Amino acid sequence: MVGVTGGIAAYKCAPLIRLFSEAGHKVQVVATNNAFKFIGKTTLEALSGNPISIVDPDLFTDVDQVKHIALAKSADLVVVAPATASFLAKMTSGIADDLLTTTVLAATCPVIVAPAMHTEMWENKATVSNIETLKLRGVTIVWPAVGRLTGEDTGAGRLAEPEEIFETAMAALGGPLSGKRVLVTAGGTREPIDAARFIGNFSSGKQGVAFARAAKLLGAEVELIAANLDDSLTSGLKTTSVSTALELSNALAEKSGSYDMLVMAAAVADYKPTDPTSSKLKRSEMGEQLNVSLVANPDILVETVKSLRASASKAVVIGFAAEASDDLESLARVKLSAKGCDYVVANDISDGKVFGRDNTEIVLVDKSGSNKFQGSKQTVAKDVLSLIASNMGQS
Ligand code: CTP
Repeated sequence: MVGVTGGIAAYKCAPLIRLFSEAGHKVQVVATNNAFKFIGKTTLEALSGNPISIVDPDLFTDVDQVKHIALAKSADLVVVAPATASFLAKMTSGIADDLLTTTVLAATCPVIVAPAMHTEMWENKATVSNIETLKLRGVTIVWPAVGRLTGEDTGAGRLAEPEEIFETAMAALGGPLSGKRVLVTAGGTREPIDAARFIGNFSSGKQGVAFARAAKLLGAEVELIAANLDDSLTSGLKTTSVSTALELSNALAEKSGSYDMLVMAAAVADYKPTDPTSSKLKRSEMGEQLNVSLVANPDILVETVKSLRASASKAVVIGFAAEASDDLESLARVKLSAKGCDYVVANDISDGKVFGRDNTEIVLVDKSGSNKFQGSKQTVAKDVLSLIASNMGQS
């Protein structure tokens, strides 16, 4: 069930409802009368996907159906987005004076609230204390973002993005990876030559981020180590940003042993300039040819697997193989044994088939066999992780 309260951010419930219905969920919308001052019933009704029923917010119509109890009983999850300061205060006090507040009070399923309000209201001690109380009672809060508010002002209190609310909801519904901690590396490392230049690669980070989001959808607690990725790509994911291979290696070492699965999707530079300079090399001084001496970076995946195994960690490790070949399976198998990981996701990067694209085709290899997947990077990530999760359940 999606509850919508009367704030300017109510318009964002439209894409949120669409995400739920497109994922195959039956959505019941309970909006307050004030919410309908910000978003029209027609907009909600027009959303495609599974049937969406919009329940009349008037508590005193169809009383024979005892709407609030029927709604509370039928919901697997209640998500209130946006949740105004007034709604949060009512919820904290157990006030039940309309269909939404009565339903929320009667609900025994998990409840998620996504607050949205002006910064002053969000930071007011009353709201701070209401949020603390709700957290203690087991309500999940999707933290508001810092950004543009109504009018000219900016600050904390902007409704979280629909994708983030949706992912939190999926995690709360439980899934094959619920209770598991998944660490994902994504993006491409950059190795400085001087203050202005670096050696990098074509990785867009899309596949790695798709794995992080898919793991969240499947119920995992996810952390991302992002090498040179834009904030817009990683929004809503708990992210540590790094740039060089060494930084990525350090960030990974810091998390040692704290995860059940490592998805090593980052494209790590195999070599780095031996003597990067902090000033800028001048073309007039370098002439027509520049020779940059390179030294090998450590193989982070190999080192991580070694240290995990030495510490008797049972973490499942998924390595990636970027190969410019159509004999993916045999090359993936070579990498599986060279790296010591549990799975290798191999893709053919030749002719610009993968980097930066939204669709992909991969082979997943482990010691017992192989499987092929194709589709959007998001779908592929979800299918791969579902298979691995079911293998984890069987072992
Ligand atoms: N990897 C790593 N550290 C490196 C290089 C790669 O941890 N210095 C990891 C990548 O994150 C990926 C896997 O190893 O999960 C394979 O990376 P890939 O670039 O396909 O292969 P390489 O190991 O670099 O081998 P080659 O370039 O010979 O194919």
